[in-house]
Amino acid sequence: MSDTLGPGDEVVLEVGPPVHGGHCIARLDGRVVFVRHAIEGETVRVRFTETAKKGYWRADAVEVLTASPDRVPSLWPVAGPGGVGGGELAHVALPAQRRWKAHVVEDALRRIGGIERPVEVVAVPDDDALEGLGWRTRIELTADAQGRAGMYRHRSHDVVPLRDMPLAVPGISTLGLFDRQWPPGARIDAVAPAGGDRPLVLVNGEPVRGERRSVREFVVAGGQEFSYRVSGAGFWQVHAGAPALLVEEVLAAADLLPGQHVLELYSGAGLLTLPLAAAVGPLGRVDAVEADVGAVRDARRNAHGLAQVVLHAGDVAEVLAQAAEEPEAGAPGGVVVLDPARSGAGPEVMAAICARAPERVVYVACDPAALARDLRAAAGHGYELTGLRAFDLFPHTHHVECVALLRRA
Ligand SMILES: C[S@@+](CC[C@H](N)C(=O)[O-])C[C@H]1O[C@@H](n2cnc3c(N)ncnc32)[C@H](O)[C@@H]1O
Repeated sequence: MSDTLGPGDEVVLEVGPPVHGGHCIARLDGRVVFVRHAIEGETVRVRFTETAKKGYWRADAVEVLTASPDRVPSLWPVAGPGGVGGGELAHVALPAQRRWKAHVVEDALRRIGGIERPVEVVAVPDDDALEGLGWRTRIELTADAQGRAGMYRHRSHDVVPLRDMPLAVPGISTLGLFDRQWPPGARIDAVAPAGGDRPLVLVNGEPVRGERRSVREFVVAGGQEFSYRVSGAGFWQVHAGAPALLVEEVLAAADLLPGQHVLELYSGAGLLTLPLAAAVGPLGRVDAVEADVGAVRDARRNAHGLAQVVLHAGDVAEVLAQAAEEPEAGAPGGVVVLDPARSGAGPEVMAAICARAPERVVYVACDPAALARDLRAAAGHGYELTGLRAFDLFPHTHHVECVALLRRA
């Protein structure tokens, strides 16, 4: 009977476990349906949103017939069925969101990485007290045709005008972004640094009224304070508590001694570079590799005066291939730290990392499937997962951050 169904049609389904991407799996006549806004164990009425693909369809749960005990009234209803992206777990109690993400990481490790390992997803301190709201130091909005600030409807180019953005830090919420008139179609980036520097608003990448283009971020970790200049449009960890948490975790996993060598890949504006440089001290060395020109410019400023930091501007695969030609590249030991984008590092980069025979590889991952693929590649070169910590750096969304430690088997 499912052959006659199309987008907009509704059926009742039993909801199975969550899978990567913020939805749960259900089946209709043997066909896989990815259902958003539902929870495992629920019976829901779904409305199909995509039925074109042979392998799977997509649907939103639009009515809950049997609710999970983990269901709560959404703290951000506009991110519910038919609404904007970026809050797809807001109908799930926070502890259950973390169990959901733990399941997704375990599943990716097992199915893609061939690794059987229980995972716990740890909250950022204070997130429970704030109900998982008020953590985004960066938001991106788009103005609709009438100049009202909003966000894209999930998997669509329609802009939904908003009244607020409850995941944003108070420094953004008080800017009045939703009361202003913007140029129709404009992209609006708002940044409010966690350390108290003034917020910054960019319209189509340009600062408003001759304002500055970058902000200052302060991170207290490893018993020290680090200061960074970060371009408004450049990459920085989004959760106000994420930079310090990740620095602490990476330093713990890297377990560096003064004088050691670190190769840091995908180094951005230098969030990890500065603490790694402090850990190895003036007799050590940190080679940091980053492709984005603006991020490298920020990193040069941020690492100014640290003679042990050498910045390499370029694509990681190319820089590693070039370095392999150099005589000292064959020397084993040292630590590799990598924090790639969602697509992961890929088999070529993982092979190049393992070929350097590092003592440890510390992998910061924002995508569990990409992490699992890269772990499988590393296993083929003799490196196994010896530690994994997972963090809820994106409450009310399906995203989860992992810090993995790999050592030679
Ligand atoms: C997840 S961010 C991490 C940055 C930094 N560790 C931080 O936490 O702020 C990933 C970084 O990798 C950079 N990047 C992505 N693909 C790259 C590539 N192929 N080669 C070099 N850098 C790349 C991006 O520009 C971005 O700065």
